[in-house]
Amino acid sequence: MKLRRLSAVAAGVVTVLALVPSAVAAAGGNGAPAVPKDSLRALGAKQGLRVGTAVDMAKLGTDAAYTDTVAAQFSVVTPENVMKWDAVSPSRGVNNWKPADQLVQFAGQHGQLVRGHTLMWHNQLPSWLTSGVSDGSISTTELRDILHQHITDEAAHFKGRIWQWDVVNEVFANSWDTPTSDGLNSTDFWVQHLGEGIIADAFRWAHQADPKALLMYNDYNIAGQDGTNTKFQAVYNFVKSLRAQGVPIDGIGEQGHLDTQYGFDAQRFQDDLQAYGDLGLKVAVTEADVRTFVNNATDQVPTSQLAQFAQPFEFSEMLKACELVRQCLSFTAWGVYDGDSWIPGTFSGEGYGLLYDVNLKPKPVYFALQQDLSLAAGPGHRNGPDSGDE
Ligand code: G3I
Repeated sequence: MKLRRLSAVAAGVVTVLALVPSAVAAAGGNGAPAVPKDSLRALGAKQGLRVGTAVDMAKLGTDAAYTDTVAAQFSVVTPENVMKWDAVSPSRGVNNWKPADQLVQFAGQHGQLVRGHTLMWHNQLPSWLTSGVSDGSISTTELRDILHQHITDEAAHFKGRIWQWDVVNEVFANSWDTPTSDGLNSTDFWVQHLGEGIIADAFRWAHQADPKALLMYNDYNIAGQDGTNTKFQAVYNFVKSLRAQGVPIDGIGEQGHLDTQYGFDAQRFQDDLQAYGDLGLKVAVTEADVRTFVNNATDQVPTSQLAQFAQPFEFSEMLKACELVRQCLSFTAWGVYDGDSWIPGTFSGEGYGLLYDVNLKPKPVYFALQQDLSLAAGPGHRNGPDSGDE
């Protein structure tokens, strides 16, 4: 275990440095406050792993404690909403890059990389687009041109400043969807209107606009969490075929939205990440959170005592799987603290999903991840005699 971990770590450092020559491993960047040595980002840097968070631009720069936490603890940031299509193009022909530009600037000032999220998704589309499609004023041919333009404009606007782009998000079928023969969701907005070929085109267009960004396919439950591994297999087969056709796809983002009520097969998760890696792809855990039932949405105290252990355990298992897969470049939590998480608004009665509590205090899961990162961070540090096993 130890040997495998160390070799994975060494190779990971080489991979990351090769991909990001200008990256500052653990420093805060020019003029930025020093990064605490025991922060998640500093510990992650010791094994070449970027530790990240989704960022809410309604809080960054206005909420001091929130802003300090983002700067001190994380080395890669993802805009939770402000790079989505409805945010960057509220009216047809009008672009609003400002909040996203502010995040990219903040990241630059704090030695952080940026995950761009997301260029093609069925959700958070501008209403001018969806209403035009539904009332027939935007034809299929025009829709394809509009998507091409959107991907080109956005990827070009941020050219050279995005480390990983989630080019395509959530187009594969879950067990409750009706799959195409390739396992895509047949009722996905893009698959339905433009066919499966649009996925390859989206990657080609993104690559043309920003040739150096790592281009990812991002989805949830694509590392075994559906129990049968069906969704993983569909993504695996599809992406393998894209690679064989020369489509410029560089990696897979496994979102990592877990719920303690369903259990979690950590070995399956690791094996699936590794399988993507073995295709020659990078991988990343892109939106990690582990939710559970809570007393109420304000306080978010788990209702089961066991959940207080399951929550950090499952989070930690995801991180360790990423650490053990050499191709796993980054591990990102989907938000900073429970008081600002999408979970209570979407899953009634659930919460407690993130690393910090509703008052922005670090939770047991924060310390569990800190410990995981420390353990993987470097060579053995004990003074005892050599065990003879190495
Ligand atoms: O911006 C409007 C604001 O003008 C309005 O006043 C307010 C009233 O409700 O809504 C605001 O928009 C909300 C937006 O977040 C920004 O706060 C939307 O209603 C709300 O639906 C939206 O939720 C986001 C959700 O994606 C939408 O699907 C969550 O914050 C975001 O965390 C979540 O993130 C997704 C990933 O992108 C993809 N993977 C799943 C993940 C969780 O759903």
